[in-house]
Amino acid sequence: MYNSFIHQQINAALQNNHVDIAGADNLFYTRMIANANAIYNLYNEIYNEHPEGERAFAQLTDVIIQAYITRSAVLKKKDLEKENRGYWFLSNEITGMSLYVDRFCGDIKTLGDKLDHFEKLGVNLLHLLPVFESPAGESDGGYAVSDFRKVDKRFGTLEDLKSVRKKMDNTGMYLMQDIVLNHTSRRHKWAEKARQGDPKYQDYFYMFDDRVVPDEYEKAMPEIFPESAPGNFTWVPECSKWVMTVFHNYQWDLNFSNPAVLVDMLDNIFFYANLGVDILRIDAPAFIWKRQGTNCQNLPQAHTLLRLIKQCVIAATPGMAILGEAIVSPEEIMKYFGTGEYLAKECDFAYNATQMALQWDMLATGDTRVMLAAQPGLLKKPLGASWITYTRCHDDIGLAYDDYMIRSAGYDPYMHRKYLKEYYEGSFPGSPSKGALFSSNPKTGDARISGTLASLCGLEKAIEANDKAAIDQSVNKILLMQAHSFFLGGVPMLFYGDELGYCNDYSYLDDPGKSYDNRWMHRPVIDWEKNKKINNPGTIEQRIFFATQKLISIRKKLPIIGDYKNLTWLHPFTIYVAAYVRTLGDDRFYGVFNFSHKPASISWATFAAQEAAPVKLYDHFAQKEFVSGTDGEFLTIDGYGFYLFENVRCK
Ligand code: GLC
Repeated sequence: MYNSFIHQQINAALQNNHVDIAGADNLFYTRMIANANAIYNLYNEIYNEHPEGERAFAQLTDVIIQAYITRSAVLKKKDLEKENRGYWFLSNEITGMSLYVDRFCGDIKTLGDKLDHFEKLGVNLLHLLPVFESPAGESDGGYAVSDFRKVDKRFGTLEDLKSVRKKMDNTGMYLMQDIVLNHTSRRHKWAEKARQGDPKYQDYFYMFDDRVVPDEYEKAMPEIFPESAPGNFTWVPECSKWVMTVFHNYQWDLNFSNPAVLVDMLDNIFFYANLGVDILRIDAPAFIWKRQGTNCQNLPQAHTLLRLIKQCVIAATPGMAILGEAIVSPEEIMKYFGTGEYLAKECDFAYNATQMALQWDMLATGDTRVMLAAQPGLLKKPLGASWITYTRCHDDIGLAYDDYMIRSAGYDPYMHRKYLKEYYEGSFPGSPSKGALFSSNPKTGDARISGTLASLCGLEKAIEANDKAAIDQSVNKILLMQAHSFFLGGVPMLFYGDELGYCNDYSYLDDPGKSYDNRWMHRPVIDWEKNKKINNPGTIEQRIFFATQKLISIRKKLPIIGDYKNLTWLHPFTIYVAAYVRTLGDDRFYGVFNFSHKPASISWATFAAQEAAPVKLYDHFAQKEFVSGTDGEFLTIDGYGFYLFENVRCK
């Protein structure tokens, strides 16, 4: 609904802040006015009846204006450049890596000296896993933040971060950082004040005098970490209250039904935007709204809040894209891109967690059918939004795809998941994997999987057995998994260490602050002496590093790989092979991946609908041309092999 009052209010706020609406700041003014109604309406969908609603809206407006005013000239120029490029983040030229600064190289300063590692590999987007202050021993890998603006001293200082950001600019690198929106550490000053009895800050969290309301909530809320943090509430003896703690007991859930929380967290979001963050990863957005009687995940108000945040960001700091880390069911993930009039106007990115897990499904079964059953849903992603594609990240691998997908391949969902868990845990007879089950819930039978890409692909066991053939096979599997995730559409996000074949790191077991959480086994401490092996031809490190580098460079060469919603799955008539075509104008790119350990053959007819006879294809990976009929009617793909074909036009 159009509301002229809002425009007047915003105009007044802009003038009070001396924004030059007709001159230098005219573009900002235009964005602000263009988005004002959306911001106001979204805000009121949630806070219309809140007694502090109106006052907090004025504060929210000021936060947006201040964010713009304090944005540096360099970032404003970048905003403009990105705007001129349109959807800059759909480009095939971006490849990311996610890393823990301390485990990767010690601290932020040293990271500045390691940028050549990324450059050599071709990585130009860094996701620094949380570096802001978080209490040692109860940090959840930095996801329990006690100060959103102070870099934790074990990583260095804010100045170090700013200086690395500047260095990254020299080579055009992008930066991704988290905002941990759903909760704070119990050591955050808001939580400390709440604990001391301050009602203002008690209202920043979900606090209750007794178990009546918590018990009602518990009836419908699942447990996220059932082994290490059962239940969703924690007793706080200092103020004699129960506080909601969906994740660990030291992570207090923020109460977004209080508009002051939104205003303060938006201010923190802009703090990151103005540090030069290109992609803001909103941690655990599925959880930010709670309602008794529901599972407190994916509620409509969580989407309204994300849309509101997105609109505010478009107005003040438009060059920052938003990634919603919603690791939820396939149908729910899709909604984070926006729905209805907000289609493609909520999160710019989501993790393709479904496809990630389905890759692991294919690898364990050699069967592509469960993955294919998920595609009609996944291809609904709107144009203008994109995926983060990956094989591995710092978290566990959940097998949260739908039962109907498993059934459509003729498998029983319970037995199928049981097999996958045992396969990756390594307990299934003959399994080459070495992982572990994470967060097993005996009440529901659910469990997720921990382990590095290399260990899950069999490298750890193969090295232990000194089995050369098994080592070769696991290297092929690693590359198959990476290649499959690199060309699907979206920004590939490598996990540090995977580019060098790091196996599980069991040192976490000696640290009481980590030993309760086996996700640490796949968060390795990098050994830079070992990394030097990339210079020795034939070493595992050298083979994986340069093959990964090659995959990235192929991506960068081919604009067709940008996320233009241009993928169609093919029918190779074998369950072992996943194959698709991507099209852009007259160009076509075919990804062909054999998930079986045996060679597989597909008919050249697979390509016939798109290509004139004879079919001529150039494989960018082997750098070799293939022509249909040369070796018979079929194209053969090695066990765990793949082709990255481009059509060669007949002259
Ligand atoms: C996200 C993070 C995960 C963390 C959780 C709670 O899912 O990726 O590592 O444990 O949020 O903050």
